[in-house]
Order: sequence, then structure tokens, then C-alpha cells
Amino acid sequence: MVGMSKDTIILGIESSCDETACSVVKNGRIIMSDIIASQADFHEQYGGVVPELASRMHVDAVYPCIETALKEAGISLKDVDAVAVTYGPGLVGALLVGLSAAKGICAATGLPLVGVNHLHGHICANYLCFPELEPEFLCLCVSGGNTQIVHVKSYTELEILGRTRDDAAGEAIDKIARVIGLGYPGGPKMDKAGQGGDISAYSFATSHMGDTLDFSFSGIKTNALNIINQSKQKGEEIDIKDFAASYQHHIAKILCDNTMKAVNATGVRKVCLAGGVSANSFLRRAFDEASSAHDIELYYPKLRLCTDNAAMIASAGYFEYINGRRDDLSLNAVPSLKL
Ligand code: KG4
Repeated sequence: MVGMSKDTIILGIESSCDETACSVVKNGRIIMSDIIASQADFHEQYGGVVPELASRMHVDAVYPCIETALKEAGISLKDVDAVAVTYGPGLVGALLVGLSAAKGICAATGLPLVGVNHLHGHICANYLCFPELEPEFLCLCVSGGNTQIVHVKSYTELEILGRTRDDAAGEAIDKIARVIGLGYPGGPKMDKAGQGGDISAYSFATSHMGDTLDFSFSGIKTNALNIINQSKQKGEEIDIKDFAASYQHHIAKILCDNTMKAVNATGVRKVCLAGGVSANSFLRRAFDEASSAHDIELYYPKLRLCTDNAAMIASAGYFEYINGRRDDLSLNAVPSLKL
């Protein structure tokens, strides 16, 4: 039809950690299917992700996952415009499985291949939840391996304003969850354990990072370990509910205060949260309060899209694709890929 532009359909593939995921997304915004095969229950017995086992499980899961995503979207590969795949950061063996599957499809069909940075994917989860959301905005990206404040200048132009100098916020929560016996995955269990707890029952140190917008969480983690050990030595039990609440509130406050500093420094009053830790209820509450107090437009993805999924990869892939990005079959996994 004259004047009607064609939809752009992206097949997204994600396998950077312990989720094999495939999704079909239209025009970067509309989810046609979103399939996730999680290995979390399997890795629970080891207390964390075992990389080699994760890779092998991705091998079994990846093609059925792709087939199901196409079927649920009601399309075939003929209807797809490009294949987007996570090529980093993540576990190298795990990344290679999704990447090989994507390259195989592109080699067989001639479809364009678009490599996606997993962290860019997390940011794009917001576009899937909020059809009206457009750059420019600030995004706090908080996952198991990363903590950074990103200035999203356009759909593909990102500038990092601040980052953690040591541990990621998610790691600081997961590690302490394990120490207090909550097990794996620590984040959701810690969140649940702290519900209704007293946020001022325990106090923790704050690392001051001078004039920068950087973070540091290793000192806070050590501080928490000391509190736990000292109470053990005294033969006392820590109160798990209060401890979990105080610790998460403290981390949430640091994340929120620094993001507000970034708002003041840039004058950008639109803020998004992204990554697995943005599912944390203490973090969401801190941002809900700060955004109403400071007149900030706040967005965070719905829970399913906060953690790893392929819809966000397809969305990021769409914006890269229309911006002209094409990768060839030599695209390799980059485990420590930066934004
Ligand atoms: O983004 P993500 O799924 O994986 C990475 O790319 O790292 O983030 C994983 C992190 C873990 O630290 C996990 O404990 C945390 O997100 N997480 C949560 C929740 N779901 C995942 N933290 C708190 N509450 C949750 N519901």
C-alpha cells in the first residue's frame, strides 16, 4: 500500500548467562513472542551458575527455543528482517551458543546479523514497556555484574557517567544473601526476606567517591560480613528480616542518591531503571519516592523484562539495525564487552 511503511521484524537470541531466550519483536516495541528457558533451578544445587554446564544446557535449548518463538509469533524465518544476538558481556561458552545459532541462521538464509550488547538490551526493556518513551534520559543499569549510570542520548548513543569501581550492586546483595543462608539466586530471596523489616535496624558505611558519579560496594559488603561475624562471635543471631531490609535499603539509597546527583549534573529529568536488580522492591521504592520529591519522570520495566530475556535484545537489535549496524559471520563473543 502506498505510503504505508513496512514493519520491521527482529528475531532476538540471548544466552549470556543461565537463560536461553528467543523472542520476536516488531518495530523495536511490540513483543510478538518471548520465550525463556531458565536453568536457575538446575544451578541452585551448586549455589551459582556453573559455566560449562550452562553452555551445554544452552546447546540443548537454543533451537527449540527459536522454533517456539517463531511459532508463537505466527511467523517463519521468511518474515524476519534481521537476527539480533547478544555477543557480550557474559560467560564466553554461553555466549558462543546463541551466537553460533544466530550465525547459522544468517548463513543459511542470508538474513543480516546484528550483534547486541547485553547492557544495551537491558536499557531497551523500557521501550518494550513504555511505547511513548524516547531518549534522551538517564538510565541506572544494575545487574549481577554491572552497576552504571548511563546517559542515553539517542537510541544508539550511550555515555557512561558513573560506574562501580569494584563490585556490582547485584553481586553485593547476592553474596550477603548466601552468607545469611538464603541461597541462590540471592537477589529475589533477599528481597522477599526483607519485606516488612526495619530499614534502620542495622547501619552500614557509605563509600564516598568524591566528585564522581562512581559507586563502590565492596566496603559495604565487608561491613555487612563484619556485622554478621561479630554477632556470631557474641553468640547472637542477626535478625534476618531487619538485616535484609536495612542492607537493601542502604544499597538502594546509594544507587538513588548518585542517580539524583547525575540528574542535577545533566539537567535530564527523565530516569529509567534497567537490569535484574531493578526488580528489587527496595530500589523501586527509593526511586518512586525520590522521583516524586524531585519532579522526575521515572520508568522501570515490568518484572519479567528486568531479568535476562531476548525481547530486550531484539529491541536493541532493532534500533541498531535501523541505525545501519550489520555484523559479519566473524562476529565473536566478547565476555567483558563494555557499553
Ligand atoms: O540482569 P540480570 O538478570 O543478569 C545479569 O545480566 O547480570 O541480573 C541478575 C541480578 C542478580 O544479582 C539477581 O540476584 C538480581 O538481578 N535479581 C533481583 C530480583 N531478580 C533478579 N534482585 C532483587 N529482586 C528480584 N526480584
